[in-house]
Amino acid sequence: MYKDLIKGFSVKENPTILAIESSCDETAAAIIDGERNILANEIMSSCREHVRFGGVVPEIASRAHVTAVSQVVEKAVISAGKTLKDIDAVAVTYGAGLLGALLVGVSYAKSLAYALNVPLIPVSHIRGHLAAAYLADKTLKPPFISLLLSGGHTAVILVKSESDFKILGETLDDAVGEAFDKVARVLSLEYPGGPNVERLAKDGKDVVPLPKMLKGEGGYDFSYSGLKTAVINYVHKIEQSGGEVNRADVAASFQRAAIDAPVNAALKALEQYGLNTLTVGGGVAANGYLRDSLTEKCRDKSIKLVLPPKPLCTDNAAMIASEGLIRYRARDFATLDLNAKARVDLDFVR
Ligand code: KG4
Ligand code: ZN
Repeated sequence: MYKDLIKGFSVKENPTILAIESSCDETAAAIIDGERNILANEIMSSCREHVRFGGVVPEIASRAHVTAVSQVVEKAVISAGKTLKDIDAVAVTYGAGLLGALLVGVSYAKSLAYALNVPLIPVSHIRGHLAAAYLADKTLKPPFISLLLSGGHTAVILVKSESDFKILGETLDDAVGEAFDKVARVLSLEYPGGPNVERLAKDGKDVVPLPKMLKGEGGYDFSYSGLKTAVINYVHKIEQSGGEVNRADVAASFQRAAIDAPVNAALKALEQYGLNTLTVGGGVAANGYLRDSLTEKCRDKSIKLVLPPKPLCTDNAAMIASEGLIRYRARDFATLDLNAKARVDLDFVR
């Protein structure tokens, strides 16, 4: 029985882990080894199919995953120069994300793990974003501060060990990526909003007055809803008085406000906890302004910054494999009744 396999399973020193990710509009598969060398990292996206709707349509995403999942897995196995027999464990994103989309990856991973008779590793997408840092720097060891900036989460996290986190602060309402996407809409930019706001901001100046961001007693919490409303009000006021909105200036001012707050909070956390290493994860970590600003600030303060390359910040399966390796070593395996979950707590491994 499969259940007995994982009960008595002895973990390998250097396992080959195949990971599958399908939480939103990207279908991805990756293979890493026990030293976190990325042997394959394949991705297919239904992004263009969602543009005319202004955001991800869950049904379209799910359907696209169904046709893409076996293709990305096959591509990953071939480009890694492996066969399915070489796979020691199958890791899969079980949450958080779009339920229908997640279910495609989870069902596929279950069948594959069962057919290959290898353990199935359930991975939290959020933890995956944080674990991308271990791929970027193989010498990285906790403790450190991690800044999570994605479409669903915004948090400053104290990483005590690979599996033990403390959330120092998070958003009280919208996530930073969500705010980028909403402001993009106000500025009549196409989905996906974040990269388009960044592009427009390059031609603008930070001259639009926007509210200060940090909220809460600890000084590590954020509120993006207020910032978004301030942008909307600013744009509407000018439009109603017949004036012309300088969209590039709005984009530049919003981008600075949205990003400076978590960056400054992370720097404060490093000081408060006497730590010298900062990692960043999540789609918004692909933002050029954030990357330049962090690089400069960390250089000035002699802080070690682990900034994963952009394709490892946005959704990918290599980061799921990276967290999968941690869970493999912790023998955190699932049985075949594993289910997808739309929401997963930030500090919850599983
Ligand atoms: O981490 P991610 O790929 O998916 C989630 O787990 O949420 O993050 C997606 C978010 C979107 O809101 C997208 O607009 C934002 O990341 N994003 C960016 C950039 N690239 C992606 N935001 C700002 N600048 C970017 N270059
Ligand atoms: Zn993500």
